[in-house]
Amino acid sequence: MLCDDFKLRRMPAYTVVGTQWGDEGKGKVIDVLAPQADYIVRFQGGNNAGHTVVAKGEKFVLHLLPSGILHPNAQCIIGPGVVLDPKVLIEELEALTAKGICGKNLWISDRAHLIMPYHIKLDEAKEKKRQKKIGTTRRGIGPCYEDKVSRCGIRVADWIDEARFSKLLRENLGEKNSLLERVYAESPLDFDEIHAEYRVYAAELKHRVIDSVKVLNGAIRSGKTVLFEGAQALMLDIDYGTYPYVTASSPSTGGVSVGTGVPPGLLDRQVGVMKAYCTRVGEGPFVTELMNSTAEVIRKRGGEFGATTGRPRRCGWLDLIAAKYACAINGITDIALTKLDVLSGFDTLKVCVGYQIHGTPCDTVPANIEDLYRAVPIYEELPGWSQDIATITRYEALPESCKAYLQFIETFTETPIAMVSVGVDRSQNIIRTKDLK
Ligand code: IMP
Repeated sequence: MLCDDFKLRRMPAYTVVGTQWGDEGKGKVIDVLAPQADYIVRFQGGNNAGHTVVAKGEKFVLHLLPSGILHPNAQCIIGPGVVLDPKVLIEELEALTAKGICGKNLWISDRAHLIMPYHIKLDEAKEKKRQKKIGTTRRGIGPCYEDKVSRCGIRVADWIDEARFSKLLRENLGEKNSLLERVYAESPLDFDEIHAEYRVYAAELKHRVIDSVKVLNGAIRSGKTVLFEGAQALMLDIDYGTYPYVTASSPSTGGVSVGTGVPPGLLDRQVGVMKAYCTRVGEGPFVTELMNSTAEVIRKRGGEFGATTGRPRRCGWLDLIAAKYACAINGITDIALTKLDVLSGFDTLKVCVGYQIHGTPCDTVPANIEDLYRAVPIYEELPGWSQDIATITRYEALPESCKAYLQFIETFTETPIAMVSVGVDRSQNIIRTKDLK
């Protein structure tokens, strides 16, 4: 049975995370929930994310801004766990202004870390040098988190303090330039140039800097509704993803407390966004990947090209072993299943219900990456449906085999599906709750 009480108002804090390899359509789910939220908060990642939202026929691609920025009634926060490229932020805000969205509701945590030009340069240099490429987005994400953990990062609070910023930049640049020159044979970066550029950015964004920890904890305790917006997804999680082919942060629900300073006890509803099939960009194992014409059909119908880098996404059948693993680690209470319409027209649909590794059945995602590369999917074949479902707005109106597909996912993952997306537009959803319609 589909969940029938997908209600934002009842809970103080909602979390929306990806359960696969990113690009599940989290932006759209956030967009559906956002009108009822007082605060929308990003807690990890940076502008490696690419959230596409189509509203009234207009397409918005957001990388760093929370998708909720399209809703002026919600206060949007870039949380402490995010790595922030101020240049990108200013560009995104300007692009929104050009489309008539003012972005006055955006706030930046004083604890977020800054992405610096040397992070971007190092991301590129490291990727170039790697024998086995990760396929990073080359936005400086990994090197910025490296500095955070090495305790030499520059935080927003340091950036807006001119003397501190100069000191930290000088210290960091000395070290990074020798790395760039000696290890990666790259040209060094200039202190004065970076300093001047980042002073301009600070002047432009300073008025948005807040103590988000205080603001958010206060908001939740006073009964406001907060929506935590994940980027990337569980299978790209630094601890639980397909390491080392992962991003550098914790996109799981566990990352919310770490990345915002809101305690776990206040986070009670966890929405897991899951595409009706699987895609992956970048390198790394992908057990259900298809290398045939079916992949082409899915890629074309689903528009599976990266919103951040434009790369064609690798496509495959739904991997329920990975999905169940993601639901368990995230404590998913509601699945939002996206892009179901893309699967219309196939005679049958395969779903992966087990892995065979060295001839032995396996029912979870192994830690050893070589095992995962060797895993052979065990499929269950389910009947497809021929109807176009893009205009259906009620669960009952879906074709029977489509309902059976949804029920199979719910039973296997032991998690209810609360929302089904059947098209790119804001309105193309099947939501089983009156107050969200
Ligand atoms: P990074 O996050 O740029 O360091 O890239 C590490 C890996 O995560 C690469 O395989 C990227 O393609 C992948 N990745 C990062 N962000 C996203 C995303 O938003 N969607 C899908 N894949 C992502």
